[in-house]
Amino acid sequence: MKKKKVNITEVVLRDANQSQIATRMPRSDFEDILETMDQAGYYSMEVWGGATFDSCLRYLDEDPWDRLRFIRSKVKNTKLQMLLRGQNILGYHHYSDETVRAFVRKSVENGIDIIRIFDALNDPANMATAIDECLKAGGHAQGTICYTTSPVHTFESYVALGKKLESMGCHSICIKDMAGIMSPKACYDLVTELKKDLKIPVYVHSHTTTGLAPMTLLKAIEAGADGVDTAISIFSGGTSHMSTESLVYALEEMGYDTGVNLKVCQKINDHFKPVQARFLKEGGLNPSVLTTKIDALNYQIPGGMLSNLISQLTAVDKLDQLDAVLEETPKVRKDMGYPPLVTPMSQMVGTQAVTNVLTGERYKLISKEVKAYCRGEYGHSPAPISEDLMKKALGDEKPIEGRYDDTIEPEFPAAKKYLGDLAESEEDVLSYIAFPQQAEAFLKERREKKALKVSYTIQEAE
Ligand code: CO
Repeated sequence: MKKKKVNITEVVLRDANQSQIATRMPRSDFEDILETMDQAGYYSMEVWGGATFDSCLRYLDEDPWDRLRFIRSKVKNTKLQMLLRGQNILGYHHYSDETVRAFVRKSVENGIDIIRIFDALNDPANMATAIDECLKAGGHAQGTICYTTSPVHTFESYVALGKKLESMGCHSICIKDMAGIMSPKACYDLVTELKKDLKIPVYVHSHTTTGLAPMTLLKAIEAGADGVDTAISIFSGGTSHMSTESLVYALEEMGYDTGVNLKVCQKINDHFKPVQARFLKEGGLNPSVLTTKIDALNYQIPGGMLSNLISQLTAVDKLDQLDAVLEETPKVRKDMGYPPLVTPMSQMVGTQAVTNVLTGERYKLISKEVKAYCRGEYGHSPAPISEDLMKKALGDEKPIEGRYDDTIEPEFPAAKKYLGDLAESEEDVLSYIAFPQQAEAFLKERREKKALKVSYTIQEAE
């Protein structure tokens, strides 16, 4: 009998990097292992998107596009994958359709095969443009269901979203459990339902934060999931993902075919061991992210969000208010119509909860992001926003009718004009549109370095 194939996506370069070491891994830490990774037999490697773009410009002095092209030049057989926040591309607010299209097109042109497209509100309208352009550019469009729990996030609602994404032309679906709160049973039931109702492959993405993920992924596979995400063992566990080698070992014994070669995995792991050790030694990796934390199951908020709340309160010396904030957070989320707690909604809900507690009055101060959310600038909330919050946020102003994105002016022409000869390519302009300050600083520095290089070469010649 032919073995059932399970596709493995290795996430060490993107999500594990982001979850454990705040996306600070420079290219020099992985450039020598890419060709080996290409031989491991992974279905795909998640290498780009998410916070990598921002981090390259902001902290690593790397051109994110150049990083992608470099990876592509070394990884010739394995599919390259990225994570895209739909209409937010890689930033934190909505961009014009033109920008989303240009970004998606350039991502594929520079080497991306699979784009996992998600929206923090699970609003298909926020994923539509990116999906459409990905299809046009010849990429694999993976539609995403952000998994969360609330009275309005029922199995039926997830299956309906899955069907919708399939009808929009997606090549596959991913259930994205960014907080690691999806239980083995919930996952088994959901994958079973989706496999029954959809023709396209179903992938599952979870984090080991709460300790559930290894069980959840196994149940996903038993229910017929076509693939899952894992991280090479040295960068697995805690806020990261289940270890690649452990899952491959278990699945092969159970008669599944992962295509992954454990001997090659060992070489990859040996390569990343000293990298991990260095981050641990220099403080870039906080050992506390490596332990299992069940807070997310108790509070129903992601681990990353909890640490953000703690640091916000610590900064103003009000950590004694943590319990009050943890009580307030689900109330704010309810008022906002139960958005899934993923970027940028987790920051908006968390900051509002902190503000409500610290000012001693609910919605006395409302952030400009929450106001924009109430106006409809982030799309449709899963459930209606509470009337009280709407009134406090907008006063007499009416929320936007129709699609907000249709009203956004294309950012490209103005950005190109502003940058002038600082921008050497369309990619440079897109970097600036996504992260203006960071990109401008990066581009200026690049120009200076080039000028230095030229004078240095002239001196050498003399
Ligand atoms: Co993730």
